[in-house]
Amino acid sequence: MFAITGITGQVGGQLARELLAAKRPVRAVVRDATKAAAWAAQGCEVALASFDDAAALTAAFTGVEAVFVLLPPTFDPTPGFAESRRNIAALVTALQAARVPRVVCLSTIGAQATQENLLTQLGLMEQALGALPMPIAFLRAAWFVENVAWDIEAARASGVMPAFLQPADKPVPMVATADVARAAASLLEEHRDGHRIVELEGPSRVTPDELAAALGRSLGRDVSVRVVPRESWEALFRSQGMRHPLPRMRMLDGFNEGWIEFEGGAATSMKGGTPVQAVVDALVGRRSA
Ligand SMILES: NC(=O)c1ccc[n+]([C@@H]2O[C@H](COP(=O)([O-])OP(=O)(O)OC[C@H]3O[C@@H](n4cnc5c(N)ncnc54)[C@H](OP(=O)(O)O)[C@@H]3O)[C@@H](O)[C@H]2O)c1
Repeated sequence: MFAITGITGQVGGQLARELLAAKRPVRAVVRDATKAAAWAAQGCEVALASFDDAAALTAAFTGVEAVFVLLPPTFDPTPGFAESRRNIAALVTALQAARVPRVVCLSTIGAQATQENLLTQLGLMEQALGALPMPIAFLRAAWFVENVAWDIEAARASGVMPAFLQPADKPVPMVATADVARAAASLLEEHRDGHRIVELEGPSRVTPDELAAALGRSLGRDVSVRVVPRESWEALFRSQGMRHPLPRMRMLDGFNEGWIEFEGGAATSMKGGTPVQAVVDALVGRRSA
C-alpha cells in the first residue's frame, strides 16, 4: 500500500493514476471528504487528514509500504514561515509515529539555496525530514511547466505573456508535472538505504520566449513576452492581495540571478521526456500534434 498526500493536486493525482494503472494499492490522503469519492471509486483506500494534524497523518501513514509527501504550497507566507513549520512538524511526528518504511518527498530545485526565498520552506522540510532514520528520496523538481496556466487567458485575450522570469531569452530549468509523477512512482518502488536527492528537469531548458511561442502555437495566435520590470513587482503583488511578497520576489530573483539551480546544474540532473508543447497544448485544451 502506498499513501499519497496531495492526491487532489497536480503531481499527487498523476502519481496515483500511475500506481493504479500498475495495479498497485493506493491510500488517498485527503483533507476534504467530498474530494475523496472520486478516488474511492477508482479503488483507493481513503484517509482523511490535514497536513497540520499529526494524529490524523499518523493514522493515514500506518501500515503502508511507502508514503509520498509534499508541503502544501504557501505562496504568501508569514515572516518565519510559521504555516510551513507547523505542517513540517506534523509530518515529522507522523512519519516517525507510523514507522513508515520509505518516503518519497516532493522538493524543489534550489531547496539548498542559502538566500531566503519562497523555496526556503522546502529547504526547511528537507532539513527536518533529513534527520529521520527511514530511507527518504528527496525529489527536487524544476519549475513546473504547468505554471504557464496562469498566463493562458491573458495570452489568449491580448497576445501577451507577462514574464517575471527574465531576461526573456534566458533558459530556465522546467519540468512537466507528468515527469515528476513518473519519477515519484519509480522512487516509491525503489528499495534503498539512507537518503537520496534526485534533481529532475525536462528534456531541455526553456526560455520565456520559447514558452510564449508554445502558447502561441496552442492558441493559434502570436504571443510575445512582456517582461514585468523588477521595480514594479512589490506593488503589483500587493495589489493582487499578497501581504508578504518578498519571499516570492526573492524566489524569482534566484531563478533570474542563477542562485536557484540544481546542486550539479544541468550536467547531473535527471531529464524527463515530456516536451513543453505537449503540456501547453493540454492546458490550452488542444491535443498535441
Ligand atoms: N509550481 C512549481 O513550479 C513547483 C516546482 C517544484 C516544486 N513544487 C512544489 O510542489 C508542491 C505542490 O505540488 P502540486 O503542484 O502537485 O500541488 P497542487 O496542485 O498545488 O495541490 C496541492 C495539494 O495539497 C493539498 N493540500 C493543501 N493544503 C493542505 C492541507 N492543509 N492539508 C492536506 N492537504 C492539503 C491540496 O488538497 P486540496 O485539493 O484539498 O486543496 C492538493 O492536493 C509544493 O510543495 C511546491 O513547492 C512546485
